[in-house]
Amino acid sequence: MPLQLGDKVPNFVQDSTEGPIDLYSYAGNSWLILFSHPKDFTPVCTTELGAVAKLRGEFDRRNVRVLALSVDSLDSHRRWVADIEDTQGVTIDYPILAEAHAASSLEMPDAVRTWRAGGAAPALPTTPSSIRLELLDPNAVQQPIEAVIVRRGSARRFSHAPIPRAALATVVRAAAAPAPLDAHAPSICYLIANAVDDLASGAYVVGTDGGLTALREGDFRREAGFLGLGQELPADAAVALYWLVDLDEVFARLGDRGYRVAQLEAAIAGGRTYLAAYALGLGATGLTFFDDDVTTFFSPHAAGKSVMFHMAIGRHVRRAGT
Ligand SMILES: Cc1cc2nc3c(=O)[nH]c(=O)nc-3n(C[C@H](O)[C@H](O)[C@H](O)COP(=O)(O)O)c2cc1C
Repeated sequence: MPLQLGDKVPNFVQDSTEGPIDLYSYAGNSWLILFSHPKDFTPVCTTELGAVAKLRGEFDRRNVRVLALSVDSLDSHRRWVADIEDTQGVTIDYPILAEAHAASSLEMPDAVRTWRAGGAAPALPTTPSSIRLELLDPNAVQQPIEAVIVRRGSARRFSHAPIPRAALATVVRAAAAPAPLDAHAPSICYLIANAVDDLASGAYVVGTDGGLTALREGDFRREAGFLGLGQELPADAAVALYWLVDLDEVFARLGDRGYRVAQLEAAIAGGRTYLAAYALGLGATGLTFFDDDVTTFFSPHAAGKSVMFHMAIGRHVRRAGT
């Protein structure tokens, strides 16, 4: 049974940058925040760990203990802590765990082979989409990929201006291109169209044929804002996109490691969305979201699926000099 809200978290003991941690003893009678990071030394995670250290007094005042988790070894964590302390002028006086990720690593070639054997994803349902989308002429993009990468930078503000329908089609097609991985966790892309030329505003699902099927028509800017943690970015953007995965199916084939595959594959779709949008002169940003509310919003079609990644694309309002 997966953990549900309200369940008691099972105890664990594992090594950390501050020695062995017994979760229950560490938490004592405090609240506990366990926050996880995908990799040591990445810019956003590094800033976040420093920020948590700076907020230490605020956590103490609220009787909250903090505990971090990151991929990579304890050795790497220790070097990372030294780097954060050096560059941000803080003391990291809370532990970082290392074993949780290693626990699902595969040690032997045979284990890898067995795991990979379950890697091929079952075909997604191929109901023909009711709305066909014409792609942009490939010559519409004049810049080489290197220039697009250099120009890319997350949009911080969108105008309400619409984007061409063919631009949406092209971005969605780029996001859906197969990723060269040894295991797959197929996601379905859902979207809220706020402002797309010749497309009624509403909620849609993207089909395997690259077309759209309308789930609900209407102006859902307010809902898109709410689903993106109440931020203006997805409410203002022309389109908010969400990649949802049937995790039960993925876990049945790939075990716990399936979660990493699902995250990685959806993030690759998100990364391609970034690049396709910028290649077409649009803006894009990745976003955080209310998981279950996104599923509910797109249900019944999305029932049983979990959100892995969320992006917004549209006409960005550039800051001076960008
Ligand atoms: C998975 C993911 C989630 C994000 N969530 C948010 C968010 O909730 N709000 C926001 O303003 N930006 C969000 N961002 C955008 C980051 O803030 C932005 O990528 C970061 O500032 C780095 O800037 P860059 O993309 O221009 O390099 C997210 C980005 C990603 C990849």
